[in-house]
Amino acid sequence: MTQLHFPKGFYWGAATSSHQVEGGMNNDWTKWELDNAERLAKGASIKWTKWQQEKFPEMFDPQNYISGNAAGHYHRYQEDFDIAQSLGHNAHRFSIEWSRIEPEEGKFDEKEIEHYRQVIFALRQRNIEPFVTLWHWPNPIWIGEMGAWKNKKTARYFIRYAERIFSEYKDLVKFWIPLNEPGTEVSLGYLFGNQPPGLKSKLAANRAFKNLMQVQKDIYRLAKSISPDFQVGCSHFMFDIKPSDRLPWNIIAARIIDYFANHRFFKSFRESCDFFGIQYYQPFHVNLRLGGHFMGLFENKKTIDWHNDLNWQIFPEGIYNVLKKAAKNGKPIYITENGLADSADEHREKFIKEHLKFVQKAIAEDVDVRGYFHWSLMDNFEFVEMRGFWPRFGLVEIDYKTQKRTIRKSAYAYAKVCKNNFLEIE
Ligand code: BGC
Repeated sequence: MTQLHFPKGFYWGAATSSHQVEGGMNNDWTKWELDNAERLAKGASIKWTKWQQEKFPEMFDPQNYISGNAAGHYHRYQEDFDIAQSLGHNAHRFSIEWSRIEPEEGKFDEKEIEHYRQVIFALRQRNIEPFVTLWHWPNPIWIGEMGAWKNKKTARYFIRYAERIFSEYKDLVKFWIPLNEPGTEVSLGYLFGNQPPGLKSKLAANRAFKNLMQVQKDIYRLAKSISPDFQVGCSHFMFDIKPSDRLPWNIIAARIIDYFANHRFFKSFRESCDFFGIQYYQPFHVNLRLGGHFMGLFENKKTIDWHNDLNWQIFPEGIYNVLKKAAKNGKPIYITENGLADSADEHREKFIKEHLKFVQKAIAEDVDVRGYFHWSLMDNFEFVEMRGFWPRFGLVEIDYKTQKRTIRKSAYAYAKVCKNNFLEIE
């Protein structure tokens, strides 16, 4: 047995987002869900493979696409944090829901501000460090009606919301992630249109991205003016982008895609964050003939040996590759998401251990990684591309009929690492 040690004070935990777990939402996504559920149940959004359709018949039920009560976390956060604590987590990433805080323009809901204060207290009482995201995609309805992020005014309103949140919780929170994966929401929601606001417009996507970039910059300055102790991060989704063979055009195409997906992002955001939050799930094989091989969209065109329920290839070494790339920016790194959809919990333990092996390898080579947040603490409403409830990402299983929590076996294996601050390998 060998022990792979992690740095002292390493943050271990899991991540969630408000819309995906809380339930009882009333935002621009809930509206879109109700309008689109029937269509999605007919398979309008994504073409799933035959084995997926057989294994997860829920995907043909419109209810699968309506977030509804989700995991009921809004009322059960104490119970959920007890579980996180029992599993040895010393940090937790979650998001505050803008639509709860400011349901009407300029009218801040004191009750909801108090609610999130209690959520943060609940973490602090359990010695769990909160990492707080201010926007994990959904917006208040009135923002949606203004055209959401393609409207410049949204940026101004968002800054006002952020200012309120920073001032309310400044003594309780140190780590902030203003925006979750702005690039993903812009491309899926504004360019490809397969998640809210459902637009397919290059112009809208460009505007939205510009506004979000400006917000990150302004918020960084604002945060520092409120408390110089704040640590403000950018969260970035990273595929491990690689050519699928040695053909020169695929090598060049992979470099170009990598430039736009990663280098450009780091360059634009480097000055407006104290750390990078890296979210890694899978590799992306660039093959000009096939298109990008990812997300199960081009299934059967390449053999995927190890994959999850979404048919994403599991490639642990990829996390090492993306960490090495991100490290070139000279900022501390937190892995703010990494996980898999695995309803039977067949692969999760091995997935976690194999990925952590490569995280540790990067650390041993002086990459400054300071924390790991598994996605997710519990099963949730998987809202990327509106996949709905069937993909199960949780360390904890949720029975959506009873809201009963059951800790999965893999969660205990991860807990051992969290408690020891080392990973034991054969
Ligand atoms: C998002 C999460 C999502 C996860 C899995 C990430 O890009 O931030 O909200 O559940 O991917 O698809």
